[in-house]
Amino acid sequence: MDKQWEIRTAETYDMPAIYELEQTCFVSPWTAELLLLDICVYEGNHYFVMETDGKVIGFAGMNVVLDEAHVRKICIAPQYRGQGYARKLLEHIQTRAVAEGAEGLTLEVRSSNTPAIRLYEKFGFITEGIRKKYYDNKEDALIMWKRELSGAQE
Ligand SMILES: CC(C)(COP(=O)(O)OP(=O)(O)OC[C@H]1O[C@@H](n2cnc3c(N)ncnc32)[C@H](O)[C@@H]1OP(=O)(O)O)[C@@H](O)C(=O)NCCC(=O)NCCS
Repeated sequence: MDKQWEIRTAETYDMPAIYELEQTCFVSPWTAELLLLDICVYEGNHYFVMETDGKVIGFAGMNVVLDEAHVRKICIAPQYRGQGYARKLLEHIQTRAVAEGAEGLTLEVRSSNTPAIRLYEKFGFITEGIRKKYYDNKEDALIMWKRELSGAQE
């Protein structure tokens, strides 16, 4: 990560860049309407963008319910991958989750998504369950958790 980078709260004016990333990064991308609702409307959701050289190169979001934070999405533009940007976004999410009173972070990930599973495992997530055929009634989801956040060193 030689470039200068910044993580900031996602704003309405980020939606075109976020939409483009969504189309590029996800197998079943959300529509613009769904993204707008999740990022700008639903209370309790917190979305952040990763910016470098004035350009949005990734985003991530979570919501907190009681003492659990759920990572809703995380992605980095293909040409910026492998440089630690997603890890920085996860660190940011964890800090914010703890500040909001969360004790644990959880997420679902496609069982075939090795880069994301490695990212999460390296960050301290552990697979605690499987939802069979969760995606499009075909692919299983791993349910991963990182618990006891207030004592974590990440
Ligand atoms: C998953 C994703 C967010 C990773 O972003 P990234 O910025 O490349 O990840 P980082 O550089 O921060 O990697 C951190 C760690 O994750 C693991 N990792 C990341 N990409 C990996 C890959 N392609 N293969 C294996 N491990 C990988 C490594 O352990 C890495 O640590 P290391 O570099 O010290 O070995 C990115 O590949 C992406 O946007 N994928 C498409 C969207 C997606 O699948 N999101 C998750 C949905 S649940």
